[in-house]
Amino acid sequence: MRDFKGKTAIVTGAASGIGLGIAKALANAGANIVLADLRPEPLEIARQAIETIGVRAVGVTIDVSDPDSVAAAGKAALDAFGALHIAVNNAGVAMHGTPVEKVTLEEWEWVIGVNVKGVINGIRTFVPMIRSHGQGGHVVNTGSVSSLFVREGRNQGAYAMTKYAVLALSEALEQELAGSGIGVSILCPGGVNTSIFDSAATRPDRFGGSYRRPEQEAMKSGFLTTALDPVIVGRRVLRAIQDNEFYVLTHTGERDAITSRFDRIRAAFDRADEVMPTIDRS
Ligand SMILES: NC(=O)c1ccc[n+]([C@@H]2O[C@H](COP(=O)([O-])OP(=O)(O)OC[C@H]3O[C@@H](n4cnc5c(N)ncnc54)[C@H](O)[C@@H]3O)[C@@H](O)[C@H]2O)c1
Repeated sequence: MRDFKGKTAIVTGAASGIGLGIAKALANAGANIVLADLRPEPLEIARQAIETIGVRAVGVTIDVSDPDSVAAAGKAALDAFGALHIAVNNAGVAMHGTPVEKVTLEEWEWVIGVNVKGVINGIRTFVPMIRSHGQGGHVVNTGSVSSLFVREGRNQGAYAMTKYAVLALSEALEQELAGSGIGVSILCPGGVNTSIFDSAATRPDRFGGSYRRPEQEAMKSGFLTTALDPVIVGRRVLRAIQDNEFYVLTHTGERDAITSRFDRIRAAFDRADEVMPTIDRS
């Protein structure tokens, strides 16, 4: 997709961080933006910032984990702009600092509700809208470098599990949309300077409400000193949409860890060759 002028993009989690960075990049390219987020006040500030770029911007309060809320946001996009071309399923929450066996059931419901069902709800609502006009478009799902490996020492299994799921959904979607004129990308960033580690403060009531995760907050200081500006990530995503790239990486620091994960899988195939009976197992 090359021409963004007058096209419509919806971005979830657009009130701050990476979502706002992507919304800015798309607006700078000429797209009108529907900003969708859980938090109405920062959402309105973000909407005004996008409008100053010179495009039309609409803010919709949304909880991506709720299918009806996502459907209402889709309707709001159509009411405002008549058609949808780009969907960025970006809203997400952190679940770092707790070993898998200690993550509470409420926390599982929340992190899966936002990070996985949020993307599913976005796909179910926005993809038919993009298909319907036949002009093509693009879907971006925000995964993480944690879609590609589980980083040791951070107790981030629950988070990584949800981001692996985003990769599977994105791979499937790319296959299913082949030939439709609708591209698919998965954004897999490393550390980006955002409020992600504060997400527990805005946990919706139906998942147990606002709470503190000191073990996660403690990760902020070291992390933020090396984290990337979300505006740069936004520009990277724009480029990926233009070039129809599937994997969108922003950091190279994890290259060795991810490569050795693949090496381990390759070695397991070699081991299968070695110990399994030599019958046709393909
Ligand atoms: N910051 C990083 O280092 C990093 C790295 C890899 C991936 N990511 C991913 O990037 C995405 C954006 O996160 P960010 O880092 O910009 O953090 P952020 O906290 O700045 O932005 C996330 C936004 O999502 C919104 N949100 C949270 N729950 C929601 C819900 N139920 N419905 C609608 N909106 C909701 C928040 O209000 C917030 O504005 C997430 O999917 C995150 O997992 C972040």
